Amino acid sequence: MKAKKGAILALTLCMASQILCACANQSGAASDKIHIGVTYYNQSDTFLNGLLEGFRQELETLKKDDLELTMTVRDAAGSQRTQNDQVKELIDAGCSVLCVNLVDRAEPSEIIDLARDNDVPIIFFNREPVAEDLMQWEKLYYVGAYAEQSGIMQGELAAEAIQSDDTIDRNKDGKIQYVVLEGEAGHQDAIIRTENAVDTLKNSGIELEKLSYQIANWNRAQAQNRMEQLVSQYHDEIELVLANNDDMALGAIDAYKKLNYTESTLPVFFGIDGTDVGLQAIVDDDMWGSVYNDKEGQAEAMAKLAVAVITGDGMNELDFEKERCIYLSYSKVTRENVEDYIKYSGEGAAE
Ligand code: GAL
Ligand code: CA
Repeated sequence: MKAKKGAILALTLCMASQILCACANQSGAASDKIHIGVTYYNQSDTFLNGLLEGFRQELETLKKDDLELTMTVRDAAGSQRTQNDQVKELIDAGCSVLCVNLVDRAEPSEIIDLARDNDVPIIFFNREPVAEDLMQWEKLYYVGAYAEQSGIMQGELAAEAIQSDDTIDRNKDGKIQYVVLEGEAGHQDAIIRTENAVDTLKNSGIELEKLSYQIANWNRAQAQNRMEQLVSQYHDEIELVLANNDDMALGAIDAYKKLNYTESTLPVFFGIDGTDVGLQAIVDDDMWGSVYNDKEGQAEAMAKLAVAVITGDGMNELDFEKERCIYLSYSKVTRENVEDYIKYSGEGAAE
């Protein structure tokens, strides 16, 4: 009798473990194939194109025999409505996780509802939703960087330059006449960068005189156009150009080149991002410095997170803040260390 009971127990256990195995296989099969849907605000953005290229490379390195990773990328072309439609289309096409670079960072609700209804996690990146929106559902994440840090670093770089080179104050009035080229209104990296850069300069004891602020939407051509207007207004009075990103700093430099300004009447230019073209401008001594926006680190965090939210593997290797956010650090790029950054960014590209 006892023996029979034992046999039944063994049989039951065996069946239970078979069921367990079947479940494990099923979830294994489901996590074998991860299809990632990406949509970003505008395909003409230099920094984001670099970031997404890094993301694609990162996914290649995470692929394994039993882990297939594919991605589909959509350009929202500056329209939130288009992006909402793209999210729907990506979910319908079977994406298991979404990476969303919002057009309007204050309008994620429709996208969040779509994702939650279909149980598809979202990794927002670069354009940070407000905290309340991220709290709407536990499968919402953010990967980016702290805007204040980039502004402070840009201000420190500019202060170092001004303190070490008294020819920057060209009219010798003890003040630095400056203009700012700003990114999109309402973007966390526009106003916060400007405020922090200017405050840092002031706190370093530098006297500033603001000549003008212009919005150029992160865009090189727009910045060139704004800068041509500023130069026609202020001639050679401008001593410092603070741009919220490298592309706008480069646009400002383009304007001076087009107007045939000579070196002795040029302001100093500072950007943020450390894009390939930005780094080259530092090598060429066109731009004094930049602040590296770690696209390789962000791409790696996004790729690992995309895998982790589906398979559960690697979640505890990720460095979360505020529960579901990952922030990569900025760092300062100057003529002295620019080669290291060219190498860092190039190594990503060569992989
Ligand atoms: C910023 C970056 C800009 C632009 C913007 C787009 O972080 O510095 O160059 O890419 O994001 O949201
Ligand atoms: Ca001056």
